[in-house]
Amino acid sequence: MKKEAGKKKRTRYIVGNWKMNQGLEEIDDFFEALESAGPLAEGVKAWIAPQSLHLERCLAKTRDLGLSIGAQNCFGEGEGAYTGEISPKALQELGAHFCLVGHSERRTLFGEDDALLKAKAKGALSFGLVVIFCLGETLEEREAGKTFSVLEEQIALGLEGLDSDPDQLILAYEPVWAIGSGLSATSEEIGKAHAFIRETVSKKLGAWALECPILYGGSVKPANAKDIFSVESVDGALVGGASLGPSDFRSLVSICAGEGR
Ligand code: PGA
Repeated sequence: MKKEAGKKKRTRYIVGNWKMNQGLEEIDDFFEALESAGPLAEGVKAWIAPQSLHLERCLAKTRDLGLSIGAQNCFGEGEGAYTGEISPKALQELGAHFCLVGHSERRTLFGEDDALLKAKAKGALSFGLVVIFCLGETLEEREAGKTFSVLEEQIALGLEGLDSDPDQLILAYEPVWAIGSGLSATSEEIGKAHAFIRETVSKKLGAWALECPILYGGSVKPANAKDIFSVESVDGALVGGASLGPSDFRSLVSICAGEGR
């Protein structure tokens, strides 16, 4: 059910994307370190997406930590003859809270196109998972001046017509050239891209999408987080490398909470 578009307090997020990292021992160490250092800063949703095979372990470890756990990928159907796929229904049953869709590594390394991503987003939403839909241009596209047209196409083909609640759909702007490279976009570049994304989703999806949170992702770390979170339109971050260590993860949550926008 859609909510009326209106004024409400913006929620901020730090979402750790662990990719295909962290073994069972590292997972246990991570959550033990996080727990022993005391509660995370309040006012920020702290989420982690481990490898799917580690979801259950992470869910068990975070029961008392106030963290939400989600998946990095899922299929568009809940069940059926889809050998090897990750079912959004199974994710829901397990207690996963969210799912990433359209991460650039899925788009480029695994050839996931916009139509497939749209089916995945629909499937995940239909089983009550929050979808974090990733968008972003490659370096080549940026240098060719195509950043906005790429974002527009990713929104049009991957999301147009999707009916959701602004609390269920989160956008993540992740310029591909900034992922894992140590290079992050400047505050000005992030501000412009976020403004464009906000305007485009409201046109393509409807006014409700004006309230969808927009995260930034791409080499976010404690050293640059303050600048990034000071951009008005940034509702938090999707973080790869810097989310693997408990102290950086904790710092990112604190920095995100401290900006008090
Ligand atoms: P990074 O990864 O923070 O290591 O650049 C971000 C991502 O891939 O979501």
